[in-house]
Amino acid sequence: PTALAGRHFLKELDFTEEEFLGLVELAAGLKAAKRAGAETRYLQGRNIALIFEKTSTRTRCAFEVAAADQGASTTYLDPSGSQIGHKESVKDTARVLGRMFDAIEYRGDSQAAVEELAAHAGVPVYNGLTDDWHPTQMLADVLTMTEHCARPVGEIAFAYLGDARFNMGNSYLITGALLGMDVRIVAPKAYWPADGIVERARELAGRNGGRVTLTEQVDEGVEGADFVATDVWVSMGEPKEVWAERIAALVPYAVTMDVLRATGNPDVKFLHCLPAFHDLGTRVGRELYEAHGLDSLEVTDEVFESAHSVVFDQAENRLHTIKAVMVATLA
Ligand code: CP
Ligand code: NVA
Repeated sequence: PTALAGRHFLKELDFTEEEFLGLVELAAGLKAAKRAGAETRYLQGRNIALIFEKTSTRTRCAFEVAAADQGASTTYLDPSGSQIGHKESVKDTARVLGRMFDAIEYRGDSQAAVEELAAHAGVPVYNGLTDDWHPTQMLADVLTMTEHCARPVGEIAFAYLGDARFNMGNSYLITGALLGMDVRIVAPKAYWPADGIVERARELAGRNGGRVTLTEQVDEGVEGADFVATDVWVSMGEPKEVWAERIAALVPYAVTMDVLRATGNPDVKFLHCLPAFHDLGTRVGRELYEAHGLDSLEVTDEVFESAHSVVFDQAENRLHTIKAVMVATLA
């Protein structure tokens, strides 16, 4: 058994720097093994439940393919396809699924729900995204950073631009601090993470040799960054009425070529968890651009399609890192 056998994966704050980096390292090993056609199946005969109360492309597919690669089976419960939270409490659902499955993945609004599931399931529970945290995404992002930056993790500088009060902003701030990175949140003050999260980040950074900066100034915030990251300005579950306010506040924080140039780093890389509004490729995007006279939102198509962009490596790494979480907790 590994050091993380039987553990839940609910939020970054539950892990030490060593544990978190151990998962990233395990993922790199699993990635290399898969590429070499030499993957060992550690999860033969295991059954994993995938509860999605919100939609997903990457997270769902990563869990399903990772499980299949490892010899495990999955059962997908779609946003409307189970009784959870509607006709049956989270606690009862946890006790039922815990009798049938070896592990449970959960994506929904509420961090309290995934914590409740973990408290009662009796098997490892994985957070596939809540409004507060996106911890499996962080494993993929850190793996991607290690692949695209030669320096040790603790010497990496990255800036996150956009709405930082939600899962991605919170997760980046805490993960960066946990790993001793130089992490910058670049956004209007009203869009910074909650005070309690900033405080935890400062504590962690102090202990692990990291640096935490929150700033409204784009040029100052991105200077010297190895990576510039962003996320959608309106997250799943938010009403579409908030788009107008978000666009007004966040257009100055869109990732453009000028922002990448302001880093002063010709090798700067661009990260986005995806999905992204960068072109006219989606119906929702087209409606928004027309209504607001824009042709992209959080990132320009020029940046997204440039050599700086490593977003598809990041997407692929969801597979290897989610596999690492299952192997570490179940093998
Ligand atoms: N990045 C991410 O979690 O994507 P999905 O919503 O497609 O799972
Ligand atoms: N902040 C986004 C992330 C999507 C992966 C959302 O919650 O919709």
